[in-house]
Amino acid sequence: MSTVHVPVSAPYDVQIGTGILPGLGKQIRALCPGAERYILVTDDMVGPLWAGTALYSLRTAGLTGRPFTLPHGEISKTSRNLVALLNYTASHRMSRSDILLALGGGVVGDLAGLAAATYMRGVSYIQIPTTLLAAVDSSVGGKTAVDLPAGKNMMGAFWQPRHVLCDTATLSTLPEDVFTSGCAEIIKTAVLFDEDLFSLLDRDGKAFDREAVIARCVAWKRDVVVEDERDTGRRALLNLGHTLGHAAEAYSGFALSHGQAVAIGMATVCRAAARAGLCAEQVPEQVEALLEKFGLPTHTDAPFDALMERMLSDKKRSGGTIRIIVPQRIGQCAIRSMTTEEAAAFMKAGL
Ligand code: GLY
Repeated sequence: MSTVHVPVSAPYDVQIGTGILPGLGKQIRALCPGAERYILVTDDMVGPLWAGTALYSLRTAGLTGRPFTLPHGEISKTSRNLVALLNYTASHRMSRSDILLALGGGVVGDLAGLAAATYMRGVSYIQIPTTLLAAVDSSVGGKTAVDLPAGKNMMGAFWQPRHVLCDTATLSTLPEDVFTSGCAEIIKTAVLFDEDLFSLLDRDGKAFDREAVIARCVAWKRDVVVEDERDTGRRALLNLGHTLGHAAEAYSGFALSHGQAVAIGMATVCRAAARAGLCAEQVPEQVEALLEKFGLPTHTDAPFDALMERMLSDKKRSGGTIRIIVPQRIGQCAIRSMTTEEAAAFMKAGL
Protein backbone atom coordinates (compact mmCIF):
# COMPACT_ATOMS: atom_id res chain seq x y z
CA MET A 1 0.00 0.00 0.00
CA SER A 2 1.17 3.58 -0.72
CA THR A 3 0.35 6.59 1.43
CA VAL A 4 0.60 10.21 0.32
CA HIS A 5 0.32 12.77 3.12
CA VAL A 6 -1.43 16.03 2.18
CA PRO A 7 -0.34 18.72 4.70
CA VAL A 8 -2.96 21.39 3.93
CA SER A 9 -4.92 23.45 6.52
CA ALA A 10 -6.68 20.24 7.63
CA PRO A 11 -4.07 17.56 6.82
CA TYR A 12 -5.00 14.06 5.68
CA ASP A 13 -3.62 10.97 4.04
CA VAL A 14 -4.39 9.41 0.69
CA GLN A 15 -4.07 5.63 0.87
CA ILE A 16 -3.74 3.67 -2.35
CA GLY A 17 -3.69 -0.13 -2.45
CA THR A 18 -5.41 -3.24 -3.71
CA GLY A 19 -8.07 -4.75 -1.44
CA ILE A 20 -8.11 -1.98 1.18
CA LEU A 21 -11.86 -1.18 1.02
CA PRO A 22 -12.73 -3.92 3.57
CA GLY A 23 -10.61 -1.95 6.11
CA LEU A 24 -12.83 1.16 5.79
CA GLY A 25 -14.70 0.71 9.07
CA LYS A 26 -11.50 0.28 11.08
CA GLN A 27 -10.02 3.35 9.40
CA ILE A 28 -13.02 5.45 10.43
CA ARG A 29 -12.80 4.20 14.00
CA ALA A 30 -9.16 5.29 14.11
CA LEU A 31 -9.59 8.62 12.32
CA CYS A 32 -12.94 9.78 13.70
CA PRO A 33 -13.35 8.19 17.14
CA GLY A 34 -16.50 10.26 17.82
CA ALA A 35 -18.33 9.04 14.72
CA GLU A 36 -21.28 6.70 15.30
CA ARG A 37 -23.32 7.24 12.14
CA TYR A 38 -22.60 7.64 8.47
CA ILE A 39 -24.27 8.19 5.13
CA LEU A 40 -22.62 6.34 2.25
CA VAL A 41 -23.17 8.35 -0.95
CA THR A 42 -22.79 6.32 -4.13
CA ASP A 43 -24.38 5.89 -7.57
CA ASP A 44 -26.41 3.19 -9.29
CA MET A 45 -23.39 1.86 -11.21
CA VAL A 46 -20.85 1.71 -8.38
CA GLY A 47 -23.27 0.87 -5.55
CA PRO A 48 -24.21 -2.63 -6.78
CA LEU A 49 -20.53 -3.49 -7.23
CA TRP A 50 -18.83 -2.03 -4.16
CA ALA A 51 -21.30 -0.65 -1.58
CA GLY A 52 -21.80 -4.13 -0.09
CA THR A 53 -18.10 -4.42 0.80
CA ALA A 54 -18.10 -0.93 2.32
CA LEU A 55 -21.34 -1.43 4.28
CA TYR A 56 -20.19 -4.78 5.69
CA SER A 57 -16.95 -3.20 6.88
CA LEU A 58 -18.81 -0.29 8.49
CA ARG A 59 -21.30 -2.59 10.21
CA THR A 60 -18.51 -4.83 11.51
CA ALA A 61 -16.83 -1.75 13.00
CA GLY A 62 -20.06 -0.96 14.88
CA LEU A 63 -21.11 2.05 12.82
CA THR A 64 -24.74 2.73 11.91
CA GLY A 65 -25.80 4.20 8.61
CA ARG A 66 -27.52 4.04 5.26
CA PRO A 67 -26.59 4.37 1.61
CA PHE A 68 -27.80 7.28 -0.49
CA THR A 69 -27.75 6.30 -4.17
CA LEU A 70 -27.76 8.75 -7.06
CA PRO A 71 -28.33 7.99 -10.74
CA HIS A 72 -24.87 7.88 -12.31
CA GLY A 73 -23.47 10.72 -14.42
CA GLU A 74 -23.05 14.48 -14.44
CA ILE A 75 -26.84 14.89 -14.63
CA SER A 76 -26.97 14.07 -10.90
CA LYS A 77 -24.64 16.89 -9.84
CA THR A 78 -27.47 19.28 -9.02
CA SER A 79 -28.46 21.57 -6.16
CA ARG A 80 -31.69 19.55 -5.96
CA ASN A 81 -29.77 16.34 -5.20
CA LEU A 82 -27.56 18.24 -2.78
CA VAL A 83 -30.59 19.37 -0.78
CA ALA A 84 -32.08 15.86 -0.99
CA LEU A 85 -28.86 14.46 0.47
CA LEU A 86 -28.80 17.09 3.23
CA ASN A 87 -32.42 16.29 4.16
CA TYR A 88 -31.65 12.57 4.14
CA THR A 89 -28.60 13.20 6.34
CA ALA A 90 -30.72 15.24 8.78
CA SER A 91 -33.46 12.57 8.83
CA HIS A 92 -30.82 10.08 9.94
CA ARG A 93 -30.10 12.43 12.90
CA MET A 94 -26.48 12.82 11.96
CA SER A 95 -24.49 14.97 14.38
CA ARG A 96 -21.42 17.07 13.71
CA SER A 97 -19.15 14.23 14.82
CA ASP A 98 -20.67 11.79 12.30
CA ILE A 99 -19.37 11.26 8.80
CA LEU A 100 -20.27 11.29 5.12
CA LEU A 101 -18.64 8.80 2.75
CA ALA A 102 -18.28 9.30 -1.01
CA LEU A 103 -18.00 5.97 -2.84
CA GLY A 104 -17.74 6.63 -6.57
CA GLY A 105 -16.30 8.95 -9.19
CA GLY A 106 -16.07 12.71 -9.45
CA VAL A 107 -19.80 13.42 -9.39
CA VAL A 108 -20.38 11.50 -6.16
CA GLY A 109 -17.22 12.94 -4.56
CA ASP A 110 -18.00 16.55 -5.49
CA LEU A 111 -21.63 16.38 -4.34
CA ALA A 112 -20.98 14.46 -1.10
CA GLY A 113 -18.07 16.81 -0.36
CA LEU A 114 -20.30 19.86 -0.72
CA ALA A 115 -22.93 18.25 1.49
CA ALA A 116 -20.20 17.63 4.09
CA ALA A 117 -19.03 21.24 3.79
CA THR A 118 -22.54 22.57 4.47
CA TYR A 119 -24.28 20.08 6.76
CA MET A 120 -24.33 21.76 10.20
CA ARG A 121 -21.63 24.10 8.84
CA GLY A 122 -19.25 21.25 8.15
CA VAL A 123 -18.78 17.57 8.98
CA SER A 124 -16.01 15.12 8.07
CA TYR A 125 -16.12 13.13 4.86
CA ILE A 126 -14.03 10.40 3.34
CA GLN A 127 -13.38 10.11 -0.37
CA ILE A 128 -13.42 6.54 -1.70
CA PRO A 129 -12.68 7.09 -5.40
CA THR A 130 -13.64 4.25 -7.74
CA THR A 131 -12.65 5.86 -11.04
CA LEU A 132 -9.17 6.72 -12.24
CA LEU A 133 -10.14 10.35 -12.71
CA ALA A 134 -11.38 10.61 -9.14
CA ALA A 135 -8.34 8.72 -7.81
CA VAL A 136 -5.74 11.03 -9.39
CA ASP A 137 -7.64 14.30 -9.41
CA SER A 138 -11.07 15.08 -7.99
CA SER A 139 -10.83 13.16 -4.69
CA VAL A 140 -7.71 15.09 -3.63
CA GLY A 141 -7.54 18.81 -2.92
CA GLY A 142 -10.89 19.64 -1.38
CA LYS A 143 -12.78 21.09 -4.34
CA THR A 144 -16.47 20.29 -3.88
CA ALA A 145 -19.34 21.45 -6.07
CA VAL A 146 -22.61 20.93 -7.89
CA ASP A 147 -23.56 22.38 -11.28
CA LEU A 148 -25.99 25.24 -11.88
CA PRO A 149 -27.88 25.89 -15.15
CA ALA A 150 -25.27 28.62 -15.72
CA GLY A 151 -22.39 26.16 -15.73
CA LYS A 152 -20.37 23.34 -14.21
CA ASN A 153 -19.23 23.54 -10.59
CA MET A 154 -20.83 26.96 -10.09
CA MET A 155 -21.95 26.22 -6.53
CA GLY A 156 -19.21 24.85 -4.32
CA ALA A 157 -16.74 25.16 -1.48
CA PHE A 158 -13.21 24.21 -0.55
CA TRP A 159 -13.58 21.49 2.07
CA GLN A 160 -10.80 18.98 2.50
CA PRO A 161 -11.67 15.30 3.09
CA ARG A 162 -10.69 13.70 6.38
CA HIS A 163 -9.11 10.83 4.43
CA VAL A 164 -8.93 9.37 0.92
CA LEU A 165 -9.07 5.60 0.53
CA CYS A 166 -8.38 4.40 -3.00
CA ASP A 167 -8.80 0.67 -3.53
CA THR A 168 -7.32 -0.07 -6.96
CA ALA A 169 -9.45 -3.25 -7.12
CA THR A 170 -12.43 -0.99 -7.87
CA LEU A 171 -10.77 0.13 -11.12
CA SER A 172 -11.04 -3.41 -12.47
CA THR A 173 -14.84 -3.05 -12.78
CA LEU A 174 -14.70 0.24 -14.71
CA PRO A 175 -16.13 0.30 -18.23
CA GLU A 176 -13.24 0.64 -20.70
CA ASP A 177 -14.25 4.14 -21.85
CA VAL A 178 -14.41 5.44 -18.27
CA PHE A 179 -10.95 4.01 -17.53
CA THR A 180 -9.60 5.57 -20.74
CA SER A 181 -11.10 8.91 -19.78
CA GLY A 182 -9.17 8.83 -16.48
CA CYS A 183 -5.95 8.12 -18.38
CA ALA A 184 -6.18 11.65 -19.84
CA GLU A 185 -5.67 13.12 -16.34
CA ILE A 186 -2.62 10.89 -15.81
CA ILE A 187 -1.13 12.00 -19.14
CA LYS A 188 -1.93 15.58 -18.11
CA THR A 189 0.12 15.11 -14.92
CA ALA A 190 3.03 13.73 -16.94
CA VAL A 191 2.96 16.67 -19.39
CA LEU A 192 2.76 19.14 -16.50
CA PHE A 193 5.40 17.79 -14.16
CA ASP A 194 6.96 14.44 -14.92
CA GLU A 195 8.91 13.53 -18.06
CA ASP A 196 9.82 10.13 -16.58
CA LEU A 197 6.14 9.33 -16.02
CA PHE A 198 5.50 10.31 -19.64
CA SER A 199 8.16 7.78 -20.79
CA LEU A 200 6.76 5.14 -18.44
CA LEU A 201 3.25 5.57 -19.88
CA ASP A 202 4.67 5.44 -23.38
CA ARG A 203 6.40 2.17 -22.50
CA ASP A 204 3.59 0.45 -20.58
CA GLY A 205 0.44 1.89 -22.19
CA LYS A 206 -2.71 0.99 -20.28
CA ALA A 207 -0.89 -1.82 -18.47
CA PHE A 208 0.80 0.72 -16.15
CA ASP A 209 1.19 -0.17 -12.46
CA ARG A 210 -2.06 1.20 -10.97
CA GLU A 211 -0.88 1.83 -7.42
CA ALA A 212 2.49 3.33 -8.35
CA VAL A 213 1.14 5.65 -11.03
CA ILE A 214 -1.85 6.83 -8.97
CA ALA A 215 0.42 7.52 -5.98
CA ARG A 216 2.81 9.45 -8.21
CA CYS A 217 0.02 11.59 -9.70
CA VAL A 218 -1.49 12.24 -6.26
CA ALA A 219 1.93 13.32 -4.96
CA TRP A 220 2.27 15.86 -7.80
CA LYS A 221 -1.22 17.18 -7.16
CA ARG A 222 -0.50 17.32 -3.41
CA ASP A 223 2.55 19.54 -4.03
CA VAL A 224 0.46 22.02 -6.01
CA VAL A 225 -2.48 22.01 -3.58
CA VAL A 226 -0.23 22.52 -0.55
CA GLU A 227 1.25 25.59 -2.22
CA ASP A 228 -2.10 26.99 -3.42
CA GLU A 229 -4.96 25.40 -1.50
CA ARG A 230 -7.59 28.00 -2.52
CA ASP A 231 -6.71 28.06 -6.22
CA THR A 232 -5.49 31.62 -6.50
CA GLY A 233 -2.23 30.92 -8.32
CA ARG A 234 -0.21 27.85 -9.22
CA ARG A 235 -3.13 25.42 -8.88
CA ALA A 236 -4.34 26.76 -12.25
CA LEU A 237 -1.64 24.52 -13.79
CA LEU A 238 -3.97 21.57 -13.14
CA ASN A 239 -6.28 23.05 -15.77
CA LEU A 240 -3.95 22.12 -18.63
CA GLY A 241 -6.19 21.36 -21.60
CA HIS A 242 -9.33 22.29 -19.68
CA THR A 243 -10.21 25.71 -21.17
CA LEU A 244 -10.64 24.43 -24.71
CA GLY A 245 -11.60 21.00 -23.36
CA HIS A 246 -14.58 22.37 -21.43
CA ALA A 247 -15.66 24.28 -24.54
CA ALA A 248 -15.46 21.14 -26.71
CA GLU A 249 -17.24 19.09 -24.02
CA ALA A 250 -20.10 21.60 -23.78
CA TYR A 251 -20.34 21.93 -27.57
CA SER A 252 -20.68 18.15 -27.89
CA GLY A 253 -23.63 18.24 -25.48
CA PHE A 254 -21.45 16.08 -23.15
CA ALA A 255 -21.19 13.32 -25.78
CA LEU A 256 -17.44 13.74 -25.22
CA SER A 257 -16.33 12.48 -21.81
CA HIS A 258 -14.35 14.84 -19.58
CA GLY A 259 -11.16 12.88 -20.33
CA GLN A 260 -11.71 12.96 -24.09
CA ALA A 261 -12.31 16.71 -23.88
CA VAL A 262 -9.16 17.27 -21.81
CA ALA A 263 -7.18 15.17 -24.32
CA ILE A 264 -8.40 17.37 -27.20
CA GLY A 265 -7.66 20.50 -25.18
CA MET A 266 -4.16 19.30 -24.29
CA ALA A 267 -3.26 18.33 -27.86
CA THR A 268 -4.63 21.65 -29.15
CA VAL A 269 -2.73 23.78 -26.67
CA CYS A 270 0.48 21.83 -27.41
CA ARG A 271 0.09 22.44 -31.16
CA ALA A 272 -0.71 26.10 -30.47
CA ALA A 273 2.35 26.49 -28.21
CA ALA A 274 4.62 24.96 -30.86
CA ARG A 275 3.21 27.27 -33.58
CA ALA A 276 3.79 30.25 -31.27
CA GLY A 277 7.39 29.14 -30.74
CA LEU A 278 6.82 28.47 -27.01
CA CYS A 279 7.85 24.82 -27.21
CA ALA A 280 9.57 22.52 -29.68
CA GLU A 281 7.61 20.96 -32.59
CA GLN A 282 8.25 17.52 -31.04
CA VAL A 283 6.11 18.33 -27.98
CA PRO A 284 2.72 18.17 -29.76
CA GLU A 285 3.92 15.18 -31.77
CA GLN A 286 4.86 13.26 -28.61
CA VAL A 287 1.69 14.25 -26.75
CA GLU A 288 -0.58 13.33 -29.67
CA ALA A 289 1.19 9.98 -30.08
CA LEU A 290 0.72 9.13 -26.39
CA LEU A 291 -2.94 10.20 -26.36
CA GLU A 292 -3.60 8.10 -29.46
CA LYS A 293 -1.84 5.14 -27.86
CA PHE A 294 -4.37 5.36 -25.03
CA GLY A 295 -7.29 5.65 -27.46
CA LEU A 296 -7.92 9.33 -26.71
CA PRO A 297 -8.86 11.95 -29.33
CA THR A 298 -6.57 14.83 -30.32
CA HIS A 299 -8.83 17.01 -32.51
CA THR A 300 -12.32 18.48 -32.34
CA ASP A 301 -14.58 19.13 -35.30
CA ALA A 302 -16.46 21.85 -33.39
CA PRO A 303 -16.56 25.18 -35.27
CA PHE A 304 -14.02 27.73 -34.05
CA ASP A 305 -16.67 30.39 -33.24
CA ALA A 306 -18.69 27.98 -31.11
CA LEU A 307 -15.59 27.02 -29.12
CA MET A 308 -14.55 30.64 -28.64
CA GLU A 309 -18.01 31.62 -27.38
CA ARG A 310 -17.71 28.98 -24.66
CA MET A 311 -14.13 29.93 -23.85
CA LEU A 312 -15.27 33.53 -23.49
CA SER A 313 -17.72 32.59 -20.76
CA ASP A 314 -14.75 31.06 -18.89
CA LYS A 315 -12.96 34.37 -19.33
CA LYS A 316 -15.84 36.39 -17.88
CA ARG A 317 -15.58 34.36 -14.70
CA SER A 318 -11.90 35.19 -14.32
CA GLY A 319 -12.43 38.93 -14.74
CA GLY A 320 -11.08 40.09 -18.06
CA THR A 321 -8.40 37.63 -19.06
CA ILE A 322 -8.06 33.91 -19.69
CA ARG A 323 -5.26 31.95 -18.04
CA ILE A 324 -3.99 29.40 -20.53
CA ILE A 325 -1.62 26.65 -19.42
CA VAL A 326 1.12 26.43 -21.99
CA PRO A 327 3.61 23.57 -22.32
CA GLN A 328 7.28 24.53 -22.52
CA ARG A 329 8.53 20.95 -22.72
CA ILE A 330 7.27 17.56 -21.54
CA GLY A 331 7.24 17.90 -17.74
CA GLN A 332 7.13 21.69 -17.61
CA CYS A 333 4.28 24.12 -18.28
CA ALA A 334 3.63 27.79 -17.55
CA ILE A 335 0.54 29.87 -16.77
CA ARG A 336 0.03 32.69 -19.31
CA SER A 337 -2.64 35.39 -19.00
CA MET A 338 -4.11 36.33 -22.36
CA THR A 339 -6.80 38.73 -23.51
CA THR A 340 -9.75 37.20 -25.35
CA GLU A 341 -8.27 38.22 -28.69
CA GLU A 342 -4.85 36.78 -27.87
CA ALA A 343 -6.35 33.53 -26.57
CA ALA A 344 -8.58 33.16 -29.64
CA ALA A 345 -5.67 33.69 -32.05
CA PHE A 346 -3.43 31.39 -30.00
CA MET A 347 -5.96 28.53 -29.87
CA LYS A 348 -7.02 28.90 -33.50
CA ALA A 349 -3.46 28.11 -34.53
CA GLY A 350 -3.66 24.82 -32.63
CA LEU A 351 -7.01 23.55 -33.89
N1 GLY B 1 -9.11 19.50 -10.63
C1 GLY B 1 -8.32 20.66 -10.53
C2 GLY B 1 -8.06 21.08 -9.14
O1 GLY B 1 -8.28 20.32 -8.20
O2 GLY B 1 -7.63 22.17 -8.95
